[in-house]
Amino acid sequence: MVAGYPNGDVQAPDATVDMRSDTVTAPLEGMRHAMAQAEVGDDVFGDDPTVIKLQNRVAELLGKEAAVFVASGTMGNLLAIGCHCAGRGEEVICGKDSHIFFYEQGGASSLMGVVLNTIPNQADGTLDLDEVAKYIKPENEHFARAKVLALENTQNKLGGAVLPLEYMEKAGDFCQQHNLKLHVDGARLWNAAVALKVPLKEVVRP
Ligand SMILES: Cc1ncc(COP(=O)(O)O)c(C=O)c1O
Repeated sequence: MVAGYPNGDVQAPDATVDMRSDTVTAPLEGMRHAMAQAEVGDDVFGDDPTVIKLQNRVAELLGKEAAVFVASGTMGNLLAIGCHCAGRGEEVICGKDSHIFFYEQGGASSLMGVVLNTIPNQADGTLDLDEVAKYIKPENEHFARAKVLALENTQNKLGGAVLPLEYMEKAGDFCQQHNLKLHVDGARLWNAAVALKVPLKEVVRP
Protein backbone atom coordinates (compact mmCIF):
# COMPACT_ATOMS: atom_id res chain seq x y z
CA MET A 1 0.00 0.00 0.00
CA VAL A 2 1.27 3.49 -0.81
CA ALA A 3 0.41 5.92 1.95
CA GLY A 4 0.30 9.59 0.97
CA TYR A 5 0.90 12.48 3.36
CA PRO A 6 -0.55 15.99 3.10
CA ASN A 7 2.90 17.48 2.50
CA GLY A 8 3.44 15.24 -0.51
CA ASP A 9 5.65 12.65 1.20
CA VAL A 10 4.89 9.13 0.11
CA GLN A 11 5.79 5.98 2.00
CA ALA A 12 7.64 3.53 -0.24
CA PRO A 13 5.41 0.63 -1.35
CA ASP A 14 7.72 -1.94 0.20
CA ALA A 15 8.16 -0.05 3.51
CA THR A 16 8.12 -2.35 6.52
CA VAL A 17 5.94 -1.25 9.41
CA ASP A 18 7.82 -1.83 12.67
CA MET A 19 5.18 -2.59 15.27
CA ARG A 20 7.48 -2.82 18.31
CA SER A 21 6.50 0.67 19.38
CA ASP A 22 5.25 3.95 17.95
CA THR A 23 8.54 5.39 19.24
CA VAL A 24 10.48 3.67 16.43
CA THR A 25 8.83 5.84 13.79
CA ALA A 26 11.32 8.03 11.94
CA PRO A 27 10.74 11.52 10.53
CA LEU A 28 9.79 11.78 6.88
CA GLU A 29 11.70 13.98 4.47
CA GLY A 30 9.21 16.84 4.86
CA MET A 31 9.61 16.78 8.65
CA ARG A 32 13.41 16.81 8.37
CA HIS A 33 13.17 19.74 6.00
CA ALA A 34 10.84 21.66 8.37
CA MET A 35 13.28 21.05 11.25
CA ALA A 36 16.31 22.15 9.22
CA GLN A 37 14.53 25.29 8.02
CA ALA A 38 13.04 26.25 11.39
CA GLU A 39 13.83 29.71 12.70
CA VAL A 40 15.83 29.28 15.91
CA GLY A 41 17.09 31.40 18.80
CA ASP A 42 18.31 31.13 22.38
CA ASP A 43 15.47 29.50 24.29
CA VAL A 44 17.12 30.31 27.66
CA PHE A 45 16.44 33.98 26.89
CA GLY A 46 13.00 33.13 25.49
CA ASP A 47 14.32 34.02 22.05
CA ASP A 48 13.46 30.94 20.04
CA PRO A 49 10.47 31.88 17.87
CA THR A 50 9.76 28.30 16.89
CA VAL A 51 9.66 27.10 20.51
CA ILE A 52 7.43 30.04 21.43
CA LYS A 53 5.14 29.26 18.52
CA LEU A 54 4.98 25.60 19.51
CA GLN A 55 4.26 26.39 23.16
CA ASN A 56 1.52 28.88 22.27
CA ARG A 57 -0.02 26.47 19.81
CA VAL A 58 -0.09 23.59 22.30
CA ALA A 59 -1.45 25.80 25.11
CA GLU A 60 -4.23 26.89 22.74
CA LEU A 61 -5.00 23.32 21.65
CA LEU A 62 -5.16 22.16 25.26
CA GLY A 63 -7.06 25.20 26.53
CA LYS A 64 -4.36 25.98 29.11
CA GLU A 65 -2.68 29.24 30.16
CA ALA A 66 0.75 28.14 29.03
CA ALA A 67 2.86 25.26 27.77
CA VAL A 68 6.54 24.46 28.11
CA PHE A 69 8.57 22.54 25.56
CA VAL A 70 10.64 19.67 26.97
CA ALA A 71 12.80 17.16 25.16
CA SER A 72 11.00 13.99 26.25
CA GLY A 73 7.86 12.60 27.83
CA THR A 74 9.82 11.41 30.86
CA MET A 75 11.04 14.97 31.40
CA GLY A 76 7.49 16.25 31.11
CA ASN A 77 6.27 13.85 33.79
CA LEU A 78 9.19 14.67 36.08
CA LEU A 79 8.68 18.41 35.72
CA ALA A 80 4.96 18.15 36.41
CA ILE A 81 5.51 16.03 39.49
CA GLY A 82 8.29 18.31 40.72
CA CYS A 83 6.03 21.36 40.30
CA HIS A 84 2.98 19.82 41.94
CA CYS A 85 4.86 18.41 44.91
CA ALA A 86 6.51 21.24 46.75
CA GLY A 87 8.24 19.18 49.39
CA ARG A 88 10.17 15.95 49.63
CA GLY A 89 8.10 13.07 51.01
CA GLU A 90 4.93 14.15 49.27
CA GLU A 91 2.95 11.57 47.37
CA VAL A 92 1.71 10.87 43.85
CA ILE A 93 -1.03 8.28 43.52
CA CYS A 94 -0.66 6.48 40.19
CA GLY A 95 -1.37 3.16 38.51
CA LYS A 96 0.95 0.18 38.86
CA ASP A 97 0.91 0.11 35.06
CA SER A 98 1.63 3.80 34.68
CA HIS A 99 4.65 4.86 32.65
CA ILE A 100 5.68 7.08 35.56
CA PHE A 101 5.98 4.10 37.88
CA PHE A 102 6.90 1.26 35.53
CA TYR A 103 9.26 2.79 32.98
CA GLU A 104 10.90 5.88 34.43
CA GLN A 105 13.56 4.38 36.71
CA GLY A 106 11.80 5.74 39.79
CA GLY A 107 12.96 9.21 38.73
CA ALA A 108 10.09 10.89 40.59
CA SER A 109 11.49 9.40 43.81
CA SER A 110 15.22 9.60 43.15
CA LEU A 111 15.24 13.08 41.62
CA MET A 112 12.20 14.77 43.15
CA GLY A 113 12.02 12.96 46.53
CA VAL A 114 8.41 12.05 45.86
CA VAL A 115 6.70 8.83 46.96
CA LEU A 116 4.81 6.91 44.28
CA ASN A 117 1.80 5.30 45.92
CA THR A 118 0.65 2.78 43.33
CA ILE A 119 -2.76 1.23 42.86
CA PRO A 120 -3.70 -1.52 40.34
CA ASN A 121 -5.07 -0.17 37.05
CA GLN A 122 -8.43 -1.51 35.96
CA ALA A 123 -8.55 -3.34 32.60
CA ASP A 124 -9.79 -0.15 30.87
CA GLY A 125 -6.78 1.82 32.12
CA THR A 126 -8.67 3.80 34.75
CA LEU A 127 -8.03 3.83 38.49
CA ASP A 128 -11.07 3.03 40.65
CA LEU A 129 -11.67 6.35 42.38
CA ASP A 130 -13.27 4.69 45.44
CA GLU A 131 -10.03 2.74 45.81
CA VAL A 132 -7.93 5.86 45.27
CA ALA A 133 -9.85 7.51 48.14
CA LYS A 134 -8.68 4.69 50.43
CA TYR A 135 -5.07 5.39 49.46
CA ILE A 136 -5.23 8.99 50.63
CA LYS A 137 -3.90 8.95 54.15
CA PRO A 138 -5.36 11.23 56.82
CA GLU A 139 -3.42 14.27 58.11
CA ASN A 140 -0.85 12.93 60.50
CA GLU A 141 2.84 13.71 60.92
CA HIS A 142 3.70 10.05 60.27
CA PHE A 143 2.23 10.01 56.78
CA ALA A 144 3.38 11.21 53.39
CA ARG A 145 0.80 13.66 52.06
CA ALA A 146 -0.96 12.84 48.77
CA LYS A 147 -0.67 15.81 46.39
CA VAL A 148 -1.29 14.40 42.94
CA LEU A 149 -3.43 11.85 41.14
CA ALA A 150 -1.62 10.80 37.96
CA LEU A 151 -3.54 9.29 35.05
CA GLU A 152 -2.31 8.29 31.60
CA ASN A 153 -4.33 8.87 28.44
CA THR A 154 -3.98 6.75 26.38
CA GLN A 155 -2.68 4.08 28.77
CA ASN A 156 0.48 2.62 27.23
CA LYS A 157 0.87 -0.65 29.14
CA LEU A 158 -2.80 -1.58 28.75
CA GLY A 159 -2.78 -1.63 24.98
CA GLY A 160 -3.35 2.07 24.45
CA ALA A 161 -6.64 2.10 26.40
CA VAL A 162 -8.49 5.41 26.01
CA LEU A 163 -9.85 6.81 29.26
CA PRO A 164 -13.53 7.76 28.79
CA LEU A 165 -14.41 11.46 28.99
CA GLU A 166 -16.92 10.81 31.79
CA TYR A 167 -14.15 9.20 33.78
CA MET A 168 -11.87 12.21 33.26
CA GLU A 169 -14.70 14.44 34.53
CA LYS A 170 -15.18 12.26 37.62
CA ALA A 171 -11.43 12.22 38.25
CA GLY A 172 -11.34 16.04 38.01
CA ASP A 173 -14.19 16.38 40.54
CA PHE A 174 -12.54 13.79 42.77
CA CYS A 175 -9.28 15.75 42.80
CA GLN A 176 -11.08 18.97 43.69
CA GLN A 177 -12.87 17.24 46.56
CA HIS A 178 -9.63 15.79 47.89
CA ASN A 179 -7.44 18.79 47.19
CA LEU A 180 -5.24 16.89 44.72
CA LYS A 181 -3.70 18.08 41.47
CA LEU A 182 -4.67 15.97 38.46
CA HIS A 183 -1.71 15.13 36.24
CA VAL A 184 -2.34 13.51 32.87
CA ASP A 185 0.56 11.83 31.13
CA GLY A 186 -0.51 12.61 27.59
CA ALA A 187 2.28 10.99 25.58
CA ARG A 188 -0.55 9.86 23.29
CA LEU A 189 -3.15 12.49 24.13
CA TRP A 190 -3.67 13.16 20.42
CA ASN A 191 -4.63 9.50 19.91
CA ALA A 192 -7.11 9.77 22.80
CA ALA A 193 -8.69 12.89 21.27
CA VAL A 194 -9.02 11.18 17.88
CA ALA A 195 -10.58 8.07 19.46
CA LEU A 196 -12.96 10.16 21.58
CA LYS A 197 -13.78 12.42 18.60
CA VAL A 198 -13.40 15.59 20.66
CA PRO A 199 -10.91 18.48 20.60
CA LEU A 200 -7.80 18.00 22.73
CA LYS A 201 -8.88 20.64 25.23
CA GLU A 202 -11.97 18.57 26.07
CA VAL A 203 -9.85 15.61 27.13
CA VAL A 204 -7.81 17.65 29.63
CA ARG A 205 -10.45 20.20 30.66
CA PRO A 206 -11.04 18.49 34.05
C1 LIG B 1 2.67 7.03 28.46
C2 LIG B 1 4.09 7.45 28.25
N1 LIG B 1 4.60 8.43 29.03
C3 LIG B 1 5.87 8.84 28.88
C4 LIG B 1 6.68 8.29 27.93
C5 LIG B 1 8.10 8.74 27.86
O1 LIG B 1 8.39 9.39 26.71
P1 LIG B 1 9.94 9.62 26.31
O2 LIG B 1 10.39 8.32 25.74
O3 LIG B 1 9.85 10.73 25.30
O4 LIG B 1 10.67 10.02 27.55
C6 LIG B 1 6.20 7.28 27.09
C7 LIG B 1 7.06 6.69 26.04
O5 LIG B 1 6.64 5.89 25.26
C8 LIG B 1 4.88 6.84 27.26
O6 LIG B 1 4.37 5.84 26.54
